[in-house]
Amino acid sequence: MASAVSRPCRAYHRAVSTPAHPPIRRIALSTGGGDAPGLNAVIRAATLAAHNLGWDVVGIRDGFNGLLSPEEYDDGGVISLSRDRVRGIVHLGGTILGTTNRGNPTRYPVERADGTVVEIDRTPELLDRFAERGIDALITIGGDGSLSIGHHLNVAGLRVIGVPKTIDNDLEATMSTFGFDSAVSFASECIDRLFSTATSHGRVIVVEVMGRYAGWIALHSGVASGAHAILIPEIPFDLTPVAETIAHRNELGSKFSIVVVAEGATPLGGGHSTIEAAGQGHSERLGGIGSKVADELERLTGKEARTVVLGHLLRGGSPTSFDRLLALRFGAAAVRALADGLDGRMVCLAGDSVNHVSLADISGKQKKVPLDCDTVRTAREMGISFGDLQG
Ligand code: F6P
Repeated sequence: MASAVSRPCRAYHRAVSTPAHPPIRRIALSTGGGDAPGLNAVIRAATLAAHNLGWDVVGIRDGFNGLLSPEEYDDGGVISLSRDRVRGIVHLGGTILGTTNRGNPTRYPVERADGTVVEIDRTPELLDRFAERGIDALITIGGDGSLSIGHHLNVAGLRVIGVPKTIDNDLEATMSTFGFDSAVSFASECIDRLFSTATSHGRVIVVEVMGRYAGWIALHSGVASGAHAILIPEIPFDLTPVAETIAHRNELGSKFSIVVVAEGATPLGGGHSTIEAAGQGHSERLGGIGSKVADELERLTGKEARTVVLGHLLRGGSPTSFDRLLALRFGAAAVRALADGLDGRMVCLAGDSVNHVSLADISGKQKKVPLDCDTVRTAREMGISFGDLQG
């Protein structure tokens, strides 16, 4: 009886090769930026789809660090992705490849002998490493930073397909990124739990969620779980109308209120609440807006307020079935795109289909919450305050 390992696989798709796109023998997968539930599902689908075309698949450790600094890894920084290696990982959070948001090869921080840190462009070296290892194409799975790097590498000559990942859902041209649904589901469950303690104590509870410059997580989890106010980066807030909403609820006998605030929300005329300013090789770290909002609401309403910061909990855990399926579809579509001879594209969700768009078109762009979108309108019509003049 033939074993599952030795059984030849049926090729469902035939790879196209042209003079501009010679046949692919080996591809690399890389996961970059903050992790998101669903990364492992992309890795599995892409690996299986590529093997079915007869391609070899390798995974680069920690973004591109495995290629740039192989001496730092016991396994040489690049691992073979066999069918066995990607078995049983679809439901696992995180990424089996590791990730980093401090390893941009175009602005790689290097410490000099005198202790100062400078940023250097290691693109030519990185391209050499791809060539030395016989890697014909890259599937880069990441957010805005990783996709911009992917675009840069593509312009420099590497065949690249991007896969959009982020719990923040702030990437252009895709209806959703994988990771977002898992983050929203978990945030909603947490807010549900906070309702009971807020009700019992008659308190205001402010829930701070991730969402650096876009308020998708705050908006969706806030509306889904029935929050009374939602503060998002797209609508600079004034806490007076929020305090009025809380006071009005109090008068009507609802002594508690739930406020969801995105980490990147800003007061009218004010700036971001940061834990660490942007530095060499990394962007600014946001945080702290939840407790500022709670303190101010306590002052304005006279009600006891508490803050819960969900932070990195939103990035952990098993992906929802929606995210698993989306991630699997994205992984297979990325390989399909390469097999079709495409290059410099990002797979995306367009209605019911997975399609692709040019990396050049989405690179450096962010998808903000449109203020006239149906979810914002729904929230307003239900009396949820956004801390602006409309309530
Ligand atoms: O981009 C996703 C995200 O979760 C942001 O919402 C958040 O600001 C950021 O990552 C935090 O990343 P880290 O703490 O890993 O640097």
